[in-house]
Amino acid sequence: MTSAIDSTETPRTPCNAVFRSPRRSSPHTPPPMGTSPPRDAARPLDPRARSNASASASTIPASWDAWLSTQNAALARAGVDRALRPVTPTDDAARHLARRDTHERWRANAPDLGESCDAPGPRETVRAFGGNDYLGLSAHARCRAAAARAAAAHGCGPRSSALVSGYTDAHRALERSLAALCETEECVLFPSGYGANATTLAATCGSSECAIFSDALNHASIVDGCRLAKASGASVFVFPHRDYDALERALRRCEAPRRVVVSDSLFSMDGDYADVERLARMKREHGFLLVLDEAHATLVCGARGGGVAQRHGACADVDVHVGTLSKAVGAHGGFVACSREMKRFLVSRARGQIFSTALPAPVVAAALESLRVVEETPSIRENLWRNVARFDAAVRAKPRLAATTRPLESPIGVFIVGAPDAALRASAELLRRGFHVPAIRPPTVPEGTCRLRVTLSAAHRPGDIDALADALDDVLSAETTTTTTTRSKL
Ligand SMILES: Cc1ncc(COP(=O)(O)O)c(C=O)c1O
Repeated sequence: MTSAIDSTETPRTPCNAVFRSPRRSSPHTPPPMGTSPPRDAARPLDPRARSNASASASTIPASWDAWLSTQNAALARAGVDRALRPVTPTDDAARHLARRDTHERWRANAPDLGESCDAPGPRETVRAFGGNDYLGLSAHARCRAAAARAAAAHGCGPRSSALVSGYTDAHRALERSLAALCETEECVLFPSGYGANATTLAATCGSSECAIFSDALNHASIVDGCRLAKASGASVFVFPHRDYDALERALRRCEAPRRVVVSDSLFSMDGDYADVERLARMKREHGFLLVLDEAHATLVCGARGGGVAQRHGACADVDVHVGTLSKAVGAHGGFVACSREMKRFLVSRARGQIFSTALPAPVVAAALESLRVVEETPSIRENLWRNVARFDAAVRAKPRLAATTRPLESPIGVFIVGAPDAALRASAELLRRGFHVPAIRPPTVPEGTCRLRVTLSAAHRPGDIDALADALDDVLSAETTTTTTTRSKL
């Protein structure tokens, strides 16, 4: 198979719009990493993290080994190195279990690449306020049973990509249901939402005829799609977050024959929304392709769960509805709901769909069942929004805490703390009190805006929501940087 991008287009005058980012950096511009920090600047490695070091001697060339050590030391020094914290899901989507050893490392922000699994000992319950399982469907009995039946009937391995033999009647049924949900003609499944964003943009916009306009706080998969398209000749313009006046000015100056505006609909790390009505009006005037990433809004927003576009009666104005099955749907995978013509193109050109194995049968069955459950049980979505309102009321009742965040408009609440260490400390203290609220750091969010991200689910109990607000009030007031940093960032 040849490259998805044939560079046969005639180069045209590029857009001349230039934006300055409103913040020091955005997900579009990850902070540069130091090239040669002192080796001893790294956080000391937990001796238990080395337990497997003797299992096989590394044959990695010395130059690469030195480079990896330097990079990892720089990450640790900047407080943005990551760890894998193993947890065990339970029947209750709002709770999971973690080993005591995992907990200890977690609270101390000690390294862990999964080694804490090896420790024996009891497990502790954690109230989960960090996932994206907005409706609790990952643990729903019907979805689990559907997945189990599909696994028994078909196994787990899809055997190939959709284009070879990985596409089944169940994949088709899921595509039909998602197209109906998003009010589009068609839908095409992808192995992940990441692949859907990155390779749909690369396939449709990878040409010098194309100019992409992307919100500064769009998800990393959109950023990477922009980068891939740019490598094939597209111009990419990053407009300040939700600054549609700036976008409009740039569109007026742009001479590219084909223009695309791409935005998250519900911003994953800020909990605010794109102004989809305005984008739809601008699209009618300027004639660009409108790509909306509804990853966090699918089944959450809109009369039937079709997303923010549906909430505003704008489904027909959105040309490419990108979604994921890994959040409120409670399963895994991505999709693009679109016209029949767009689907024909993506099936032949979107490399994330062509060159990656299809979704497994149990995953497809679980996702299909989730859509049925939501349609038949409206109370699940009502519970989610009741919990959002409850958490917002609990936060507003605490003036100190309320000053650190915006009124909650969505299931995503954001409490900006500032520095990575402060966010990690606050998250660790919440964990000590039995709440998992992750610290979000660069490159996921711009530097200086590290935050605690609270996500609400239909599965949460009212008492846990109130208790979390109390704990946040205590913990954040102990972080002296909070108030000043937050006020300047909101
Ligand atoms: C806004 C947004 N788009 C796309 C994705 C990628 O989806 P997936 O997890 O299915 O790869 C995510 C996941 O975090 C997301 O938050």
